Amino acid sequence: MNVLLLGSGGREHALAWKIAASPLLTKLYASPGNPGIGRFAELVKLDIADHSTVAAFCQEKKIDLVVVGPEGPLVAGIADDLRAWGIRVFGPSKAAARLEGSKGFTKDLCAKFNIPTAAYGRFADLAAAKAYVEKVGAPIVIKADGLAAGKGVTIAMTLEEALAALEACFDGASGSAGAEVVVEEYLTGEEASFFCLCDGATALPFGTAQDHKRVGDGDTGPNTGGMGAYSPAPVMTPEMTERTMREIIEPTMRGMANLGAPFAGILFAGLMITDQGPKLIEYNTRFGDPECQVLMMRLKDDLLVLLNAAVDGQLAHMSVRWSDDAALTVVMAARGYPGTPEKGSVIRGLDEAASDGAEIFHAGTAINGGALVANGGRVLNVTATGATVGEAQKKAYGATDHIDWPQGFFRRDIGWRAVEREQTGK
Ligand code: AMP
Ligand code: GLY
Repeated sequence: MNVLLLGSGGREHALAWKIAASPLLTKLYASPGNPGIGRFAELVKLDIADHSTVAAFCQEKKIDLVVVGPEGPLVAGIADDLRAWGIRVFGPSKAAARLEGSKGFTKDLCAKFNIPTAAYGRFADLAAAKAYVEKVGAPIVIKADGLAAGKGVTIAMTLEEALAALEACFDGASGSAGAEVVVEEYLTGEEASFFCLCDGATALPFGTAQDHKRVGDGDTGPNTGGMGAYSPAPVMTPEMTERTMREIIEPTMRGMANLGAPFAGILFAGLMITDQGPKLIEYNTRFGDPECQVLMMRLKDDLLVLLNAAVDGQLAHMSVRWSDDAALTVVMAARGYPGTPEKGSVIRGLDEAASDGAEIFHAGTAINGGALVANGGRVLNVTATGATVGEAQKKAYGATDHIDWPQGFFRRDIGWRAVEREQTGK
């Protein structure tokens, strides 16, 4: 098969690594890709926003499957447009990608199909939103409706913070994403990322992970896209997985089909495991980044076979096998992230870092004058496996020691919750 992979981050590097291991693969193309992905794929410059250019490329190169990494093109309808040209695509339609593209859409779906989530209100005007917040009180959560690259959420611990966040939303702080806001109940518990491979009718559980969203050790500082992750998530016991499937995922699959927008692709549920059980925080309609990196390290089966089965509506006949090992990834970021990262600094020592079995996925790198340089906020994902999360953590941090990049930084405590559990046996 000829495959075209869209995207340029660590998630896409991990996908390329796994797709390249498939005996089904003839040739992999990636656009725009990155230097790490370039080891497995021919990198092509396509204007991904121009769907007919992508389609023409697919026809010329006889692409059998397009795999879409990030949410932007999905929400913009790339899967529908390519399918209209007869091209097979792994990824949801524009209508199904509303699960990520509109928080209000997802909240309404939860209400309609009785899916456990935080209580909420949806508002298009400031006065009504303020009145609701004043009635409910703090702590409370304010979210811009649309895609805001992780920046549209305020966890307000006081009424003043909540009112300020509302004013900022309606003032355009989140661009057009803030034209409507969702105000929701503050949930407490442990968070987990839960993935399902979906073909429109069947959802196949596809691994669990825990992410670390804050930039600093001890979960401090501003939110990021994710500073590290590990898999599996211990909080997702077989019982919790079964409840999540029954109470959240299956009603979502039925609900989306019922609305004429069956979901096919990766459904990524951000969960809060509360005293009452799993509650949906949000959906994403693509793999998590950096969660994908740890999932791919543990996946025993051929990814391309599974993606094909999802595209062909054959998941009811499939199963997935995972390594018993844990996997953990540490994100190395450029100074300045999650604000404006410094670009262009030289990175050395990747071969030494990988010599002990770690995988170094590239997230934001470029080649400049023959040298590998930082070219984004999140730059490298240093990833390892081990019999326990603690062992994987030791191996991943051991590998970071070989990376010579003074302008980079990373958290020192990725996996702390799981390691603590392993040590105390709780
Ligand atoms: P989101 O962009 O929706 O994933 O939100 C970012 C982060 O905010 C989540 O990972 C949670 O840590 C937190 N969060 C979002 N919604 C809630 C909520 N209703 N209660 C508590 N924390 C939340
Ligand atoms: N790591 C969280 C996300 O990909 O949305």
